[in-house]
Amino acid sequence: MKSLLIQNGRIIDPGRKLDEVGSLLIAGGKISWVGRAKDTPPDADYDVLDAKGLIVCPGFIDLHCHLRQPGFEGQETIATGTMAAARGGFTTVCCMPNTEPPLDNKSTIDYVKSTAAAEGIIRVLPIGCISRGRMGEEPADMDELAAAGVVAFSDDGEPVLNPELMRRALEYSCSSGLPIIDHCEDKTLSEGGQMNEGKISAELELKGIPDTAEESIVARDLDLTEKTGGWVHIAHVSTGGAVDLIRRAKEKGVRVTAEATPHHLTLTEERVKGCNTSAKVNPPLRTERDVKALIKGLKDNTIDIIATDHAPHTEAEKRQQFDLAPFGISGFETALGSLMGLVHRGDISLVSLINKLTAAPAEIIGKKYGPGTLAIGAPADVTIFDPNLEWTVDTKDFASKGKNTPLAGEKLKGRVVATIYGGKVVYRDEGVTMKGRETIKR
Ligand code: DOR
Repeated sequence: MKSLLIQNGRIIDPGRKLDEVGSLLIAGGKISWVGRAKDTPPDADYDVLDAKGLIVCPGFIDLHCHLRQPGFEGQETIATGTMAAARGGFTTVCCMPNTEPPLDNKSTIDYVKSTAAAEGIIRVLPIGCISRGRMGEEPADMDELAAAGVVAFSDDGEPVLNPELMRRALEYSCSSGLPIIDHCEDKTLSEGGQMNEGKISAELELKGIPDTAEESIVARDLDLTEKTGGWVHIAHVSTGGAVDLIRRAKEKGVRVTAEATPHHLTLTEERVKGCNTSAKVNPPLRTERDVKALIKGLKDNTIDIIATDHAPHTEAEKRQQFDLAPFGISGFETALGSLMGLVHRGDISLVSLINKLTAAPAEIIGKKYGPGTLAIGAPADVTIFDPNLEWTVDTKDFASKGKNTPLAGEKLKGRVVATIYGGKVVYRDEGVTMKGRETIKR
């Protein structure tokens, strides 16, 4: 593979507190040199990618997505899912185990890993089940799963309702060093719920999901985590109350990490009006107050990372009436554009946003898996994006089989221009280049 020089971009590497205009040389699949704008690279023979006016940062890492394979290949495959992820700037994605069969033993993990190696275009790290068959009863063989290379455990899509099972999982996290990711939802409170409980659910005559459904399980998990000394990671936090609970637990020294999704950080329950199934997601889109609380949590690091919860579904499934349509938003390809809205509005800084997508998730999964850094010698996983490019979301352009996004037809400002994985350009926005963005050439 020929060396590649990424020239004159604004290099932002939050893990190393680097933010300056410069150039990056990739050789042998690794970062081999980083220099200032005027420095001359040591190598002489390389392709050039001129990144003037663009941001150059570590490849994004997504701790929470659904690739659907095995079992639901009509919704997504590892091939289409990793292509969609690369279009979104992700070079490492962690896939949830709610497949068929579920990822609860070594052979299913081996299957995901070998399929990803053969058909995927970026790094795929599987997450193993907490319970056997994701049934919420017997624990899965966590030793076997850890030895097979899972990076975390979760029954995502379903909560761990049995406190004894959760306690054992948290105890296991002490010895394995791997986080227990919980989808916090008290099913007795959410049963039959379709959207956030409130005025809009009443108007639409849809059964609501109250915020306490999330908060009661978050509170239980934090208590169990404190008592076991384990490590809980709270998935897709959606309520202000949950943010407060996590903040207080962190102050007490409880080992908790947490994520928020781009949709919960930028959209509200208003999107469901007209019974729009593309905005049907679990946990549901909440209120403006919750969005503000999530952003505050992001800023003060109560929320450690941003994860997409990319959840592709077929058009036929989402075309059904609201109460029959499945929960989920296809999130890879709009993540950066929608999150840049927060930066453009001044809600969070660009460096902080990149941190929540790179160095911070790398800390959680362990640096040996997703680099999250542009340090010399690190695998050359690099994302290049234009922070100001305006574009309209057209689901026909999605690589994902899931066209289910409430952002279809909307204008976003900020777009991935190229994604490099292990030194190889796995995605490049030809449209941007062809429209005469002379800054990109090879
Ligand atoms: O909206 C969601 N969709 N939430 C989940 O927890 C699961 C996911 C899915 O698998 O479709």
